[in-house]
Amino acid sequence: MGNIMNETVLVLDFGGQYSQLIARRIREQNVYCEVLPSETDAETIRSKAPKGLIFTGGPANVYAPDSPKCDPEILGLGIPVLGICYGMQLIAATLGGHVAEGGSANKEYGKTNVNIDTGCVLFKDFSPENICWMSHTDYVEKMPEHFTRRAFSDGCPVAAMGDDARKIYAVQFHPEVVHTDNGTSLLRAFLYDVCGCSGDWTMSDFTERSIRALRERLAGSKVLLALSGGVDSAVAAAMVSRAVGRDLTCIFVDHGLMRKNERRQIEDVFGTKFDSKLVVVDAEERFLSKLKGVSDPETKRVIIGNEFIEVFQDEANKLGRPEDFYFVQGTIYPDVIESGAGTSGKGAVIKKHHNVGGLPEHIKFKAVVEPLRDLFKDEVRKCGFELGLTKEIVMRQPFPGPGLAVRVLGDLTKDKLDLLREADFIFRDEIARAGWDDKVNQYFAVLTNMRSVGVMGDERTYDYTVALRAVTTTDFMTADWAQLPYDILQRASTRIVNEVRGVNRVVYDITSKPPATIEWE
Ligand code: XMP
Repeated sequence: MGNIMNETVLVLDFGGQYSQLIARRIREQNVYCEVLPSETDAETIRSKAPKGLIFTGGPANVYAPDSPKCDPEILGLGIPVLGICYGMQLIAATLGGHVAEGGSANKEYGKTNVNIDTGCVLFKDFSPENICWMSHTDYVEKMPEHFTRRAFSDGCPVAAMGDDARKIYAVQFHPEVVHTDNGTSLLRAFLYDVCGCSGDWTMSDFTERSIRALRERLAGSKVLLALSGGVDSAVAAAMVSRAVGRDLTCIFVDHGLMRKNERRQIEDVFGTKFDSKLVVVDAEERFLSKLKGVSDPETKRVIIGNEFIEVFQDEANKLGRPEDFYFVQGTIYPDVIESGAGTSGKGAVIKKHHNVGGLPEHIKFKAVVEPLRDLFKDEVRKCGFELGLTKEIVMRQPFPGPGLAVRVLGDLTKDKLDLLREADFIFRDEIARAGWDDKVNQYFAVLTNMRSVGVMGDERTYDYTVALRAVTTTDFMTADWAQLPYDILQRASTRIVNEVRGVNRVVYDITSKPPATIEWE
């Protein structure tokens, strides 16, 4: 849909690890912002009429031949600019200053004491000696003409500089990370005092405007959506449903690999609280027969992905010709950035195997509609609340597309899946009761394919081992095992062996990622 808000700030990505974080921090200040590749030309930027520009950090040396540069004309557009770290060095080098290759005396990494000129518009709320997060060796040795030095540190003769007339500012440290004291106030001052933003990016506004835009585009057409049970597709469904009501049909494929009660929840919400049509496809047998005897994880994924497409296609054909339908997808902004469409893709990692989907490539719909394309995950959740979805759906932890198929190790049977569903339900229940569901990012049970000897009421047993997994993570690329209190583990273990037939042993996974992955398969 493109940006439907008024004000935009653009972040030019020079390959720094914090580029997405900067964008999120800006949106937290109620200003819409997009990440663009560093090589975006001045004309493209002018056409987007941004209120301000931010140049991110990056690992390169500005004078290296292959280092990312920006179109120098950008600095002459009259748009306020804030350079951060590499962004600062690039501004200095581009406007006639000089960047020195630092040595051990200049290298600063971590929390650093920085002397601040609190008279600068950006530093109103800073202390004269402010703790800032540094990560650099090179430094600005000579400022360009018309710039004033606004901060320095032991390793950095110019830790901040600004040209008030041209509204170009730059800092060597990282205001976007929490380790910089008053970092948020710097970003806020740039957005509001320098760029003159009014802060029109709020989720309630966005939600209302999106609904209106969707209604204008789609009302009277046939619209289709594949509900997966995950947060993104649920929020997309709720939004499109508010926009076009019964013109929308949601298809939920129950592949028999869902967690306990999940299908019922979907039926409760989308079958009753929203006006759209809901088609629930009971495809358990179809999936299980295709998966029979298959124990290799990647093969399971491929089978499930393909079967999903077939089942969906069969259902869609019952409703009419696909080319008459708009197809709604719950793509979110990090997917857009990671696919390389948003940025230069430098350093971006794509997880290809992850989503069961890829539907539009197989089916020729009229067009694909992505109403959440501009949102970060936390914004999607806020939007979900705006639309009246409950915490149960909006705060749901991530669940892999292939579902419990990759949590029953080895070959699958309905009995094993049922057993896992019960064990998993108990573990999640105990975590929630203890108030730990907000403290861990993903937690679940795994049915190992190991059986061992136990004793229950004088009887010898030879039953399965269930493994419990709980992790904390921000990006799911790396994760720590969660240090759950023993009493949660104890209650979960006791209940699982008592309440789930076929399990006589429970273990807790204490491996981080890497070297392990979050899922066991
Ligand atoms: P791993 O196991 O790779 O998981 O550490 C990282 C995150 O991705 C999820 N995951 C998947 N999601 N399809 C999905 O939609 C998949 O095949 C898949 N495999 C892993 C996993 O739950 C975790 O959040």
